[in-house]
Amino acid sequence: MPEGQDKLRRGTTEDDITAQVLARFAATPDPRLKQIMLALIKHLHAFVKDVELTETEWFQAIEILTEAGKMCSDKRQEFILFSDTLGVSMVVDLLDHRKPEGATESTVFGPFHRLGAPEMAPGGNIAHRDTTGAPALVSGRVLDLDGKPIADAKLDVWQTQSNGLYDAQDENPDELHMRGKFRTDSAGRYLLRTVVPVNYPIPSDGPVGAMLKATGRHPMRPAHIHFVVTADGYDGVTTHLFDRTDPYLESDAVFAVKDSLICDFTRHDEPTAEAAKLGIAGRFYTAEFDFVLKPAGATAQTDVHEAQRRLAALGAR
Ligand code: BEZ
Ligand code: FE
Repeated sequence: MPEGQDKLRRGTTEDDITAQVLARFAATPDPRLKQIMLALIKHLHAFVKDVELTETEWFQAIEILTEAGKMCSDKRQEFILFSDTLGVSMVVDLLDHRKPEGATESTVFGPFHRLGAPEMAPGGNIAHRDTTGAPALVSGRVLDLDGKPIADAKLDVWQTQSNGLYDAQDENPDELHMRGKFRTDSAGRYLLRTVVPVNYPIPSDGPVGAMLKATGRHPMRPAHIHFVVTADGYDGVTTHLFDRTDPYLESDAVFAVKDSLICDFTRHDEPTAEAAKLGIAGRFYTAEFDFVLKPAGATAQTDVHEAQRRLAALGAR
């Protein structure tokens, strides 16, 4: 072997390649970026070696990612759907939003939040165009960890229509519906009118749907209402309320159910005085839930408003 030949023998084995790639990232100046890139290379290479990925399968992966990218728009976020259905969103949520005992747990943000929901007075109806859903009043308090009410907390609420579609999936996707912003009163109370949430399939006409089908999974999410609850001096929480009777609680397509977020929608055959005042004439349902916020932490978590802005900005690109 000529002199120095041993140094030129690069990439003889798959482990040589991994070592070379890791070495190439060793001088990354930002320590966090360096940590992430080194771990990414290690795990990605280990995965490829573990399954002995073929070139055909590698091409399939490129095709899937390309298709996912092409599907993304201001109304559709296929990459978030991938993250959600692979359980990555919930792992990130658990790691980045650790809560002390008693604080309301968070869950996935999902791809259907929209900025610009109207501010509504207590009792405002977010389902004003929904003629088929069962009317429901959702109420409760926003509290601190000591059980003291938080006045002027904000609740940003969104939900599907009773046909299981978000407004962005409608024929007129630009018209906001099933969304509203509420504030708590001096006793920390909130009240909103909506319809009983329904279970619904996540969008499954793209690569995520193909993945679910090919792996024998269903695309259903249990009935829920989305909330982002914020108040000055507290860490906001991005969460859902789930209907206890839903058959998909055990098999949510995006792994987002937490026991503490399940609540009862109680049936009333006659309107109460409060319901009548809000225009409910017959059978309706009530759900009660208190949100508990923890004081703003010293450690920077991803701010819930930042997440909302970033999702909206994705659609604008
Ligand atoms: C949602 O609840 O809106 C949702 C969450 C994750 C993926 C798709 C939809
Ligand atoms: Fe949802």
